[in-house]
Order: sequence, then C-alpha cells, then structure tokens
Amino acid sequence: MDTKQLGNTGIQIPEVGYGTWKHHGDPATIRRALEMGAFLIDSAESYDTERYVGQAIAGNREAYFLATKVSPHHFRYADVLKAAEGSLRALGTDVIDLYQLHWPSYDVPIDETMRAMDKLVTDGKVRHIGVSNFSAELLREAERALGDGRIVENQIKFSLLDHEFADEVIPYCAERGMTVFAYSSLEQGAFEDRVAERPQLAETLDRIGAELGKTRAQLLLNWVICEPNVITIPMTSRVERVDENCGASGWRLSAEQWDPLTEAAGDGATRRWWLS
Ligand SMILES: NC(=O)c1ccc[n+]([C@@H]2O[C@H](COP(=O)([O-])OP(=O)(O)OC[C@H]3O[C@@H](n4cnc5c(N)ncnc54)[C@H](OP(=O)(O)O)[C@@H]3O)[C@@H](O)[C@H]2O)c1
Repeated sequence: MDTKQLGNTGIQIPEVGYGTWKHHGDPATIRRALEMGAFLIDSAESYDTERYVGQAIAGNREAYFLATKVSPHHFRYADVLKAAEGSLRALGTDVIDLYQLHWPSYDVPIDETMRAMDKLVTDGKVRHIGVSNFSAELLREAERALGDGRIVENQIKFSLLDHEFADEVIPYCAERGMTVFAYSSLEQGAFEDRVAERPQLAETLDRIGAELGKTRAQLLLNWVICEPNVITIPMTSRVERVDENCGASGWRLSAEQWDPLTEAAGDGATRRWWLS
C-alpha cells in the first residue's frame, strides 16, 4: 500500500482507505483492511457505524487512523463538543485523528463551528480538522475562520464517471496543501451498470485491465488516486473485495492509459493529472 501525506501534517495515510457508510458491522473487513495496509477508517456520526468500528479496532486502536464526521445539525458550539463526545464513546477511543464537518451549513456561522473544532484540538480530543463537500469558496471561509493551514482535508465525491465538482475543488485543495478524500469512487457499487451504458469505456477498461492484470474496480480507484493529493475510501462488506480494492495501490496508470479512459468516460474531462 502506498501512502500520501495528510495535508501539511507530516503524517502518512494510505492512498486506499476504508469507508463505512452502510457497513454491516462485521469486524472482519475492518481488520482485513489493516492487514492490507488500509489503516484509515472513515465513519460519521450519521452512519451509525462508529460503534462497529470501535468494536473492530478494540485492543488495536493505535494501529488505525480514525476519521469521523459531525453532522450539520450539530454545528452549534455546544453541539459540536457533545457530538464529538458521542463519537469518541462509540469509537472507544480518547482521540479522533481527523474530525470532519460532514456538509456545509447554511444556518450556523462557520466561525462558531470552527471555535468548537479548535477547542477539541486544544483539549486533545481531536488531532486534525477536515471538512466534506466544501467548494473552494466555502473552503476559503472555513480557512479564514480557523486559520491558515489548519484544514488538512476535504472529502468529496470523485470518480471517473462523476468529477465535475472535484475538477473545481481539487486544484484549490492542492494549492492550499489539503488532501482530498474521494468518496463513491465506485459509484456506490453501481459502476458496472454505469459502465455498461458506455460501450467504449467498457472496452477500454477491459483492454487496459488485461494489459495490467487489474480489475475494473481497481482501474477506477487508481484513476482517482493518480491525482497527487487524493486518496480514496471505498466501502465493501466483503473481505475479498477489501483485498481487491487495496490492490488499486502500488502501481499507476500511465498517461497513455489514463487519457483514453478519461475520454471514454465521455463527459468532456480535460484535466490531466500529469500536468497538475
Ligand atoms: N462525505 C460524504 O458526504 C460521503 C458520502 C458518501 C460516502 N462517503 C464515504 O465514502 C465511502 C465510500 O463511498 P460509498 O460507500 O458511497 O461508495 P463506493 O465505495 O463507491 O461503493 C460502495 C459499494 O460498492 C461495492 N463495492 C466495493 N468494492 C467493490 C468491488 N471491488 N467490486 C464491485 N463492487 C464493489 C460495495 O458492495 P459490497 O459491500 O457488496 O462489496 C458497496 O455497495 C463511504 O463508505 C463513506 O465512508 C462520504
């Protein structure tokens, strides 16, 4: 498993982590993820999976990097602190490695929410602060509220088949030294159906997959982590797919492979990672 630096922290995280939205609770996958080098586990208070993560990592907490999220209806100062306590309890830990604002709030001023995030860091309950689903404009406001260099990560939807928002946001994150966590890179499991709608993409995936000895899922995951500041966090409830997804790391699509894949996805993508 190859790693990348988290923001400007000096901490190395795996370029393929493990998401837990809709996770069924079997600890085997979370433990297998660690064995495969995917020691970053992503959860959220709203997923109701923090307790499964806590059970799976019990006795081995320090081997994992734990990321979780606070929901926008808890963005008032006191509510953030309370939500963090709930997540710490559910995860069975004293500290959250990365605490993220799950979505932007249009009700609560970002200054108030960030004051609470700052307090959690000061109190040693959170190590690093991230956000999720933030545009470049919202990131600017969040950075102003918290201070330069303090937001180390933005978690966003990013896949070969859906990258319009990411195309705008990733360059800003790169410029500001933030890592992007790509979610739904496998289209929430619907990638085969979506590929089937694009015969040229199906053919290109299979041709390049045969050249490299990689599956379609591995190509799709590798495509997103070609971006220097991006990692991906696929979710699977099957142990064998943990191995498959982790096999998306340790190699890179070449420019000659990346380009036709991007073209075949057929949505006018123009950005090329090797130029970024
Ligand atoms: N911040 C946000 O707003 C946000 C939103 C969505 C997701 N997320 C995070 O990102 C994580 C990943 O995104 P996601 O869960 O939406 O979608 P995803 O990772 O794109 O897809 C998960 C689905 O893909 C299937 N799958 C996984 N590996 C596969 C493989 N190798 N081959 C075929 N199918 C495979 C899984 O089914 P099986 O279980 O049957 O393998 C599961 O149904 C989430 O778990 C969550 O942590 C964050």
